[in-house]
Formats: sequence, structure tokens, C-alpha cells
Amino acid sequence: MCCQKFDCFTGRIFRREKTDMERETVLVLDFGGQYNQLIARCVRECNVYAEVHPYTMTMDEILKMNPKGIIFTGGPNSVYDSTSPHYDPAIFDLGIPILGICYGSQLMAYLLEGTVSTAPVSEYGKTTVSVNTSSRLFHGIEETTDVWMSHTDYIEKVPDGFMVTATSKDCPTAAMECAGRKLYATQFHPEVSHTREGRKIISNFVYTICGCAGDWKMDSFVEAKIREIRDKVGDRKALCALSGGVDSSVAAVLMSKAIGKNLTCVFVDHGLLRKNEGDEVEAVFGAGGPYEMNFIRVNAQERFYEKLAGVEEPEKKRKIIGEEFIRVFEAEAKKIGAVDFLVQGTIYPDVIESGLGESAVIKSHHNVGGLPSCVDFKEIIEPLRMLFKDEVRKAGRELGIPEYLVGRQPFPGPGLGVRIVGEVTAEKVRIVQDADFIFREELEKAGLAGKAGQYFAALSNMRSVGVMGDFRTYDYAVVLRSVDTDDFMTASCTEIPFAVLQKCMNRIINEVKGVNRVLFDLTSKPPGTIELE
Ligand code: XMP
Repeated sequence: MCCQKFDCFTGRIFRREKTDMERETVLVLDFGGQYNQLIARCVRECNVYAEVHPYTMTMDEILKMNPKGIIFTGGPNSVYDSTSPHYDPAIFDLGIPILGICYGSQLMAYLLEGTVSTAPVSEYGKTTVSVNTSSRLFHGIEETTDVWMSHTDYIEKVPDGFMVTATSKDCPTAAMECAGRKLYATQFHPEVSHTREGRKIISNFVYTICGCAGDWKMDSFVEAKIREIRDKVGDRKALCALSGGVDSSVAAVLMSKAIGKNLTCVFVDHGLLRKNEGDEVEAVFGAGGPYEMNFIRVNAQERFYEKLAGVEEPEKKRKIIGEEFIRVFEAEAKKIGAVDFLVQGTIYPDVIESGLGESAVIKSHHNVGGLPSCVDFKEIIEPLRMLFKDEVRKAGRELGIPEYLVGRQPFPGPGLGVRIVGEVTAEKVRIVQDADFIFREELEKAGLAGKAGQYFAALSNMRSVGVMGDFRTYDYAVVLRSVDTDDFMTASCTEIPFAVLQKCMNRIINEVKGVNRVLFDLTSKPPGTIELE
């Protein structure tokens, strides 16, 4: 059984009490790259359990974990800078197979006394490499294959005992290995989908080199998590922040399986929900619904509107909403009495985009970076923190949550607060709720609902002149946004037939008072984000 304790504000693990010596685990050692969880996810897709831990994890902790293999991630630094993250070179003598990726490959070369320097030509994006297919890492890979590169440094000279196993036009060491010591490295990123045969390379590493059997499945995750939560919580009480979205619903059902009636789900209607959503959530999780949970609905619309009055800056709005949520939960916890834990449905993209660890802040997802600095709970439990959305959905299915709930598109914790550009008012909320209802209804009618990853209406802060009947109008522009995405870290605009968009425009302008223009947002992520704020 694996029991780990997170520092909820940094995401760092600071205590590992027990390890499951029998479960095959690949350790992903995080040196600060953006794709670290993608590496773990690729490994899990090979049916091998993977965990990401910071590079500050000690050798003792690694040995207790007993990993079948270790992957050093990429990272933004140069190995030869004195402040860059390093690791004790003794790790290479543990006999555990290691794969270094990008910065991880350079670190391996540097620590083993090869030479790393600034590359005369940096490589970014798709690059063709020639690989030595007799390497166990490249078994079954085409001799010439496309990979994704992103580096300014390169391995100029491999360490003694290593051989070069891939090259590109500008990179003499696109991969290297010392098979006898089970040490492998790629300058490119096998974990991103743009590396054509990347999944095969990861699979070669975990199966052929690490010797994993691949008997881990998502239901093992669910079972292990339930056991872990039971161990941690014991007879104590927890309060789950339930929004009715996929993540918090899955977290709530998981927790309820683990601790039963010691869990109370609190659903806060902050007045920033989609049309009819408050009643829909109550129908599912409240009395008479399919789940026998302790459920409390708090109608706190006025309280949130008051706090948000006059506030325009997106991060400020997020922090206010995050803080108010916590204060409501604290008040409810006091009423219940002796509640030690707050449970949140945080998932990995929330963590990475809130800029925890080494990465940059994109926006403060309210259940991570939007948390106030002082929270009146002993501990925060985030059982889904290391999963991507589609993995959360899989876990939800394993838990027997009905498809209509698991397949729901995501809705951000701060709700319409981040879909209304600028100040939030009750009037703007009414406009965006009505427009969003129409947009969703029309996409469903057109059979596009299952195709798009996320679609919604937002309200721009722009008012412009129009004419309706014989009158001048000066009203708001609604923004329609629909994106295709699996991991919610990148997204592209959904191709919606023009006739459907026209129908939406007609209905929104005719049926929603206060709107005289409808705009369709074509922006992908990056450079945009999915939500407007
Ligand atoms: P962005 O806008 O960051 O959104 O590209 C990525 C995904 O995250 C959702 N999102 C949030 N989810 N709390 C959440 O639980 C938040 O504060 C939050 N902000 C964005 C967003 O809807 C999309 O699915």
C-alpha cells in the first residue's frame, strides 16, 4: 500500500510512509519540464503505474519506492549552470534502468563526465532522426523517424562506455545509451504525440528494458486510492467541495466509497453556474438521487456578487471566488463539527497551469493557486491531482458513475466568473446563462455535442452599436467558443458548420435581451486558453 502526504500548496511530497513493493512503478523524476505528466501518462497507457516526483526526492525514498525504472524529465535549465537541478550520480549505480529525456539526457551525460554545451544550431519542433534499430530502445522503430525536439544545449561528447544511438542533421547525439548499465537517453521528447513512434519507444523502455509485466489498470488506481484514503482518513470526517462537474463528482464518489457517511459533500451555488445547473446537481447528489451521500446545498449568490462588485482583473476575480468558496466550506465544516479534511477534485492541468513547481503561472485554478494562504482544515485531499481529464473519466467509469455525468464537459470552479470578461454583475450572468443554454442546445441538436471537448458561450466586455427594428441598440457581444481537446493542455477550434453558427446567432440575438452581436472564437490553445479569463 502506498501512502503519501502532499504539501497542498506546493504539491511536493514530504513524507512517504509505506510503499507497495509489489506494484510495478516507474518513477518520473521531475526536473521542471512542461510535459512531465505526459510522460507518466504514456507509461500508464502501457499499463504500468507511474508517479511524478520532484528531483529533490532522496535516494532513500527512491529505494523505498522500489521503481522498475526511472525517467529523468526535460527542464528549462542548462546543466552547467550552478543553480540548475542536479542529482547524486550514485543513482546511475543502483542497477535501476534510467531513461533521460531532453534536459534529463544532458544531465545524465554531464554527471557521467560527458560534455554538454550550447548547440551551434538549436532545434525546435519536428526533426528527422536516424536511429540505430539494434538498440533495445529503438526496437521496431523505423530507421528514419520524425521526433519532437526542443533544445538549445546538446551532448557534444558522450560519457565513457556510452554509444550514440540516434543523430539528426544538427544534433550529433539525438540518443545515447550504455546498455550494460541500463542507461538510455534521448535528446528528443518521446512523450509528445508529435514524435511519431514515441509511444513505441516508451513501451520499449518499460517492457524490454525495465522488464515490466504491464498488469496495472485504471481500476487498480481506483482500488489503490480507496485503500490509501481509508488508511489516511480512518474514522475522521471530510468535507468534499462538490461542483457537480466531472472532477469533483468523481472525487466525491471515490471518497464516499472510501469513507461512507464520514464524508459530507457541500455544493455552493455561487450564482455563477450554468442555467438550471444548481437544481440539476441537487437532483443527482441530493436526497432521492442515486447516491446516498450527506449533501448540503448552500445558496451564496449574493455573497459572491457583493465580493466581485467592481472587480475586473481576472486573477483577482479568481482569487476572490477561491477564497469565498473556502470560507463557505469552513463555515459548513464548523456546523458539521470536527471535520479534518477538505476534498477537492483538482486534476493535473489545474496544477501545472497554476504554476506550481517550476512552471509558469498561466492562471490560478481556484482549487490550486486560487486557495487563500490560510485554510481552516487540517489537510487537503486531492485524489485526482495526478490525472488528466480523460483519465479522470476512466476512473469515473470504473466507479460506476453514469455516462451522462462522466461524459459531461468540464466547467471551471470559478464558473461564469471567468467567462464574463471584466466586472461580474447579475445582469451579465443572466445574459451569458441564456446564451450558453441556446448554444449548447443547438450543438446538441446538430449532433456536435459529443465531438467537441468543451463548448460554451462567454460574454465579452464589448458593447457596440446595432439596429433592431427601427431602434438603435448599444448592447453586449456574446462570444461562442468550442474546442477539440483530449488533455485540455492544448486545444484547437471545433469546425462547426456555418448554418449551425447562424442559427445560434439568430436565436441568441432574438431571445437574449441585452445582446446585439455574436462572435465565434477561432483561437487555439496555445496561444489562447480555453476559458477567456
Ligand atoms: P484553460 O482556460 O486554463 O482551461 O485553458 C483548461 C481547462 O481547465 C478548466 N478550468 C478550470 N477548472 N478550476 C477548475 O476546476 C478552475 O479554476 C479552472 N479554470 C479553467 C477549463 O474549463 C478547461 O477545461
